Amino acid sequence: MREQPQLCETVSALRKALAGRGRIGFVPTMGNLHEGHLQLMRTARAQTDVVVASVFVNRLQFAPHEDFDSYPRTLARDCELLASVGVDLVFCPSERELYPEPQTCLVDPGPLGTIHEGEFRPGFFRGVATVVSKLFHIVGPDLAVFGKKDYQQLQVIRHMVRQLRMPIEIVAGETARAQDGLALSSRNGYLSAQERLSAPRLYQCLQAVAQRLADGQKDLSILEQAAQSELHAHGFRPDYVRIRRQQDLQVPTDTCQELVILAAAHLGRTRLIDNLEVTR
Ligand code: PAJ
Repeated sequence: MREQPQLCETVSALRKALAGRGRIGFVPTMGNLHEGHLQLMRTARAQTDVVVASVFVNRLQFAPHEDFDSYPRTLARDCELLASVGVDLVFCPSERELYPEPQTCLVDPGPLGTIHEGEFRPGFFRGVATVVSKLFHIVGPDLAVFGKKDYQQLQVIRHMVRQLRMPIEIVAGETARAQDGLALSSRNGYLSAQERLSAPRLYQCLQAVAQRLADGQKDLSILEQAAQSELHAHGFRPDYVRIRRQQDLQVPTDTCQELVILAAAHLGRTRLIDNLEVTR
């Protein structure tokens, strides 16, 4: 049995626990952990002396109609899982500890935060950038790991760190998937048994787009439209399927080779996102 990680509920307890511990690796999460999160922890573990995970459901990144209240909170189980991958410290502040007063000072990631996910979830990336910036200041990591599953979030964080000159190395972790291809997500638990059977279609759809790109289809909007129609035909309500440049998620030029297919779609009451990097 691995040792349980040390739980820190306050900033001062965390600071004390981290004093003089060497190179710090950090993985921020909202809890309800799965194998995707654990992979990120292992990546941090392999590259740093002390690994901190945070578990905090960040109200600031939820719109009023979203699932803040019902978001699964499973701290005891999360700690067991974190112990199994050798995480040293779990920072799990109360809302009061992290937001002792209304958070009026916000980190705005600019135009990158208003496209794609930002278009359908206004304010989402401002909420993410603000809490991640705050956590970075509290934890003081040398390295932080983010999943490619949330591709735009990863780019927003890279952009913030670069522009604000935060001395933190950002490392990307590959998307962990179920055997049938569905990207693991804390929100997959919202799917009914029937929906869970349909859900892998989203990734299959991305793979089909990648195949048509590889076959030489040059008109990206034809591919995007076809993918959205296909999702519709399988019971999804797609928000978007877009083929973009990896680097800044803008429309690629003809010569751009590093692409990413981004998709978001509702299935019943669950909103799924996924993406696939392709090189052409
Ligand atoms: P959460 O959804 O808990 O995700 C925490 C980290 O795990 C993120 O970097 C996310 O990209 C990564 N992750 C989630 N599912 C994954 C999968 N299937 N494979 C690989 N990595 C995966 O993302 C957030 O929390 C929040 O927005 C946060 C950054 C913590 C700020 O509140």
